[in-house]
Amino acid sequence: MRLLTAAVTSIALALGAQAAVAAPVEIKFSHVVAENTPKGQMALKFKELVEARLPGKVEVKVFPNSQLFGDNKVLEAMLLGDVQMAAPSLSKFQKYTKKLQIFDLPFLFKDMDAVERFQNGPEGQELLGSLRKKGLVGLGYLHNGMKQLSASQPLKTPADAAGKKFRIMTSDVLQAQFEAVDAVPLKKPFSEVFTLLQTKAIDGQENTWSNIFSKKFFEVQPYITESNHGVLDYLVVTSAEFWMGLDDDLKAEIQKALNEAIKYGNGIAAEKADSDKQKIIASKRSEVLELTDAERAQWVEAMRPVWKQFESEIGADQIKAAEAANN
Ligand code: LMR
Repeated sequence: MRLLTAAVTSIALALGAQAAVAAPVEIKFSHVVAENTPKGQMALKFKELVEARLPGKVEVKVFPNSQLFGDNKVLEAMLLGDVQMAAPSLSKFQKYTKKLQIFDLPFLFKDMDAVERFQNGPEGQELLGSLRKKGLVGLGYLHNGMKQLSASQPLKTPADAAGKKFRIMTSDVLQAQFEAVDAVPLKKPFSEVFTLLQTKAIDGQENTWSNIFSKKFFEVQPYITESNHGVLDYLVVTSAEFWMGLDDDLKAEIQKALNEAIKYGNGIAAEKADSDKQKIIASKRSEVLELTDAERAQWVEAMRPVWKQFESEIGADQIKAAEAANN
């Protein structure tokens, strides 16, 4: 009898082990934007590629629009194993590293080509590992685009922003940037921005054309200044525990699919930076304001001292490398 029980137990264990091996790895990918955005499209492309190439082995579930977690919670949830991938904007990592703050410095990058050059260079690549000590792994950068300023009143010079309340992402650099023009920055989750603008609890915000369009901010903001004053890009992250637990072949396939999905998302980012802007102009809900060189120079002069304020946390060499990427 004892022998029989032992035999039954070992068969059950073997079957159990087989079932465990056979169960697909589940990747929950959580993000906060709409699906018709560079990040939304990248995440869906990643799912498509992974599931086509690793059928039955990996399943990707994408949760857009802060459905699963907002960016203020997602990294904690990742460390607890409740979500496996996310791509928060680079402005949302300051609790985990001060190094990525470089991307928030106002007027540092002249355009997205400069951002791309910096990210692909040695300094940018080194920053991918800046979260390692905190148990997170940076798998790649993804573009959204240059940020614009939207408001309830026209913003042409820094004096126009003085005293106005602006929603910002959770970044001390962005806080300093708005304080530099005597505005009042408020750190708020992305999911609350539309309502804050609609109810006039705040006067304005900064974001990319695709976010302003897809979340309908332009419908409740009569003016958008084409300032291109900063960049909003993402870091695709996972937890070290999850990543190190995958076998090497699987990891390589997932990383390859992600690289392709990022390339695809970057193409959409470039296209949407123009097409979503045109859609906003065509809607006539919001007036797009251009800055003269003299007006732009005033914003640069007012905001540029922020670089010095954060130089010791970010690193002077990193800032120099980023500036060099403009040429
Ligand atoms: C924001 O909070 O404004 C952005 O980070 C949203 C996003 O993910 O593009």
